[in-house]
Amino acid sequence: MGLLTVQGVVAGYSAADEILKGVDFTVDRGEMVAVIGPNGAGKSTLLKTIAGLLKPSRGSVTLKDAPIHGHPPREICRLGLAYVPQEHNVFPTMTVRENLEMGGYVDTKNVKSRIERVFERFPMLAQKRRLAARGLSGGERQILAMAMALMVEPTVMLLDEPSAGLSPIAAERLFESVVAINREGVSIAMVEQNAREALAIAGRAYILVDGRNHRTGDAKALAADPDIRRIFLGG
Ligand SMILES: Nc1ncnc2c1ncn2[C@@H]1O[C@H](COP(=O)(O)OP(=O)(O)O)[C@@H](O)[C@H]1O
Ligand SMILES: [Mg+2]
Repeated sequence: MGLLTVQGVVAGYSAADEILKGVDFTVDRGEMVAVIGPNGAGKSTLLKTIAGLLKPSRGSVTLKDAPIHGHPPREICRLGLAYVPQEHNVFPTMTVRENLEMGGYVDTKNVKSRIERVFERFPMLAQKRRLAARGLSGGERQILAMAMALMVEPTVMLLDEPSAGLSPIAAERLFESVVAINREGVSIAMVEQNAREALAIAGRAYILVDGRNHRTGDAKALAADPDIRRIFLGG
């Protein structure tokens, strides 16, 4: 059994809506797993279902062997699963420091020392702690969003397209931070449009197509597969 296990999940945005048509997905301890696939395949829907924002009509989601599907997002977060949505993932008018406080809201103990740890890890955030989040660059904002997620000291982090909208250099830096967080022991599931980069840094990957598992395996092997290169990586 994986650390996080999704089995046969059917889910959508209303009771009869089947966007995910029976998805299986696993993240083992320490892994970085990439999720790629065409627009509208259900990648974000999968992350939202794991995070508890959507309830599956069938199937199960387990974290450390305990079922979490149907649990409220806040409780799932408290159990050690942090979710960073693609958009609206920081509070623009609040300062960097206030955003980090919000990130720690599910567990209000030791917020100060956790913020200090985040500042040690990301000196840029310490420097800009009094700046409103809307004053950060796109890449800095994504770092802040991940740092907010780290405030709960998660075992698993879900990232939805962290590099979206970033310049190639900013995306590269962002991926370096993702790798560093993973090396420190946080298991990661990352949805990415930037499939080449994602496969280059992930251990395993899932390709979703039309709400179903299409291919799964070692990320480097998938990246080297001629069919996958042609269809998903642009040749
Ligand atoms: N809030 C929503 N309400 C209704 N349908 C949605 C909503 N968000 C996404 N969808 C639909 O779910 C399908 C999968 O979307 P999504 O999971 O966002 O795809 P991906 O992240 O792979 O691009 C799409 O057909 C999309 O139109
Ligand atoms: Mg998406």
